Amino acid sequence: MRTVVITGASDGIGAAASALLASDDVRLVLVGRSPTKLKAVAERVGAEHHAADFTHLDDVRDLANTLNASLDRIDVLANNAGGIFAGPVKTADGFEKTFQVNHLAPFLLTHLLLDRLIESRAAVVATSSVGARLFGHIDFDDLQNWRNFHPRKAYGDAKLANILFTKELHRRFHAQGLSAVAFHPGNIATNFAAEKRTGFNRIYHGPLSAVLASPKTGGANLAHFIAGTPGQDWQSGEYYGSHRKITRTNPQASDPTIIARHWRQTEHLLFPPP
Ligand SMILES: NC(=O)c1ccc[n+]([C@@H]2O[C@H](COP(=O)([O-])OP(=O)(O)OC[C@H]3O[C@@H](n4cnc5c(N)ncnc54)[C@H](OP(=O)(O)O)[C@@H]3O)[C@@H](O)[C@H]2O)c1
Repeated sequence: MRTVVITGASDGIGAAASALLASDDVRLVLVGRSPTKLKAVAERVGAEHHAADFTHLDDVRDLANTLNASLDRIDVLANNAGGIFAGPVKTADGFEKTFQVNHLAPFLLTHLLLDRLIESRAAVVATSSVGARLFGHIDFDDLQNWRNFHPRKAYGDAKLANILFTKELHRRFHAQGLSAVAFHPGNIATNFAAEKRTGFNRIYHGPLSAVLASPKTGGANLAHFIAGTPGQDWQSGEYYGSHRKITRTNPQASDPTIIARHWRQTEHLLFPPP
């Protein structure tokens, strides 16, 4: 039986993917921020569930402890939780919220589960976005966008960070059996951009949302990478578009110096030297 952990499973793309993946052959472990929404989704699909708010890194640490203690293997970790938020907002941990929820939290969770993931020859799937190419440009002097914060730019940087993380995970650990992939799910009518001051609220929560694809379409894309076999259905270290083909993304994601530097700076923020 495969064990699949999906974050951001209490709504939208993650919830839709969970419904598609639920079967007797899969142990589904769902993670979400809202305990009430998460419980409802998990009960509907017959999955285990653990609530964690990624604006609190202690929640991520507790989640990792629980998963390490309760799962003897993890075949897939789908880092899907995320979104675009107004800001800048300082979290309890002192980091900018968009950066923390989309990048720092999945980076930390993956690190804390790394031994189990490597033992299991797991796949780490990142729900990134075309926003990485359209709006992202990482500036190492202002990694978290504290200066001149704009929701779109902060989101683009965070989704670009997902791709950089995927590529470095692949470079460091693929030889030990770990695979990693990032993808754009499509422009999907979900609870994305629920906050008004994100620039995208009118598109996602007004009449224009009729042009967006359904959560089922986005969920099917996520389920494709979760259910697929690395090396066969998708290639480790790559970024895929919503048509499930390797697609160009932000040029910064092709620069090994930027990829390595971003990993080191993230590590430095999460695990500062004593
Ligand atoms: N929709 C799109 O067009 C689109 C396009 C490209 C990429 N994406 C990406 O797809 C992923 C899923 O988004 P979606 O469209 O399905 O949006 P959604 O319906 O808003 O779902 C987002 C999920 O992330 C969780 N989440 C949000 N903030 C969190 C926090 N602080 N701590 C823990 N979990 C948190 C939510 O939990 P609660 O519901 O419990 O708050 C929910 O389960 C995101 O990474 C997003 O960036 C979406």
